[in-house]
Amino acid sequence: MKQENQIKKVAVIGCGFIGYSWGVVFARNRIDVTMYNRKSKTLDTVKSRMEDALHFLAEEKVIAPEDVEEALGHVTVTDDLQEALRDADYVQECLWEDLGLKRDIFKQISDLTPPHVPIGSSCSGLRIQDIAADVTNGPERCIVAHPTNPPHLIPFMEISGDLASQEVKDRVFAFMESIGQKPIQCKEVYGYVLNRIQLSLIQEALYLVQEQICSTEAVERALTDGLGLRWAFTGPYGVEELNSACLEEGLVKYKDYMLEFFTQEQKKVTDYDESFIRRAVEEFRPVMHGKTHEEYLKWRDQMVIRTRMLKEKK
Ligand SMILES: NC(=O)c1ccc[n+]([C@@H]2O[C@H](COP(=O)([O-])OP(=O)(O)OC[C@H]3O[C@@H](n4cnc5c(N)ncnc54)[C@H](O)[C@@H]3O)[C@@H](O)[C@H]2O)c1
Repeated sequence: MKQENQIKKVAVIGCGFIGYSWGVVFARNRIDVTMYNRKSKTLDTVKSRMEDALHFLAEEKVIAPEDVEEALGHVTVTDDLQEALRDADYVQECLWEDLGLKRDIFKQISDLTPPHVPIGSSCSGLRIQDIAADVTNGPERCIVAHPTNPPHLIPFMEISGDLASQEVKDRVFAFMESIGQKPIQCKEVYGYVLNRIQLSLIQEALYLVQEQICSTEAVERALTDGLGLRWAFTGPYGVEELNSACLEEGLVKYKDYMLEFFTQEQKKVTDYDESFIRRAVEEFRPVMHGKTHEEYLKWRDQMVIRTRMLKEKK
């Protein structure tokens, strides 16, 4: 059973790609959210960007049309950090991936909030013990809360931080579940879980194109017309379960085949040059079917949310 959510007010620190989207997640769940950024165009436009995202959710019938205004009523925007953190029950940090910057903001956030307030970093590759190195007021509440971009459409997220208390990680986990996110917990390794898997795949995608084994378009199609259709429903272990009589049989049956590839066939790409980038971009063009970047993004978001709705129907 889902626990009742004790977190009623959230401060989002940084209003870029990830920050604005986290803001949508909280606001659409009727949680008061204060959006903080330094003075910038990003700050000036964050509320209208959130409004656009909420209208998109309404168009896709994920929320009711009247929920757009209701959600926006929960949003405050400020460039005053102290103001942003006042009465916050949880802080989601989303500044640039820069250790010095995050280290400084974690120190400030922790000094301005009581020690029971969890501080989650959206960081993708930094270690929380480095980010929280200067925190003296409750360092065990500093955790990794790494989303998948954009969190208002893709719910998977990772909660980590080997120095954080298990109680805090469990509390944030329960909170995220209560608002529809799909968290996992993992040890603090580079890339956590999703990006480790994604990076292995990108490695192979680079190799296949660099060696001219196939085009960029062909790599895209292997995923979008092939693996991706299964992967929204069954992961690699699920695939093995269904490729054989059962997972155990699959792991035995394909062991030699997999190990032969990993040990003999798989080659590492350690670099690529300008001409590779030009070729990859040229070969990718047909994949977008004449869409602009913005049109391609909107189409991707529509397909993602529709797949998610389909999954949620079961
Ligand atoms: N973009 C992704 O796909 C993705 C996915 C998962 C996690 N993340 C992580 O999320 C975090 C944010 O990434 P993003 O893509 O949203 O970055 P972004 O560049 O879009 O946004 C960063 C924001 O921080 C603000 N900022 C920078 N310095 C500041 C300061 N001193 N004071 C106040 N505001 C400041 C910038 O104005 C900007 O609005 C990073 O740690 C990143 O690794 C990104």
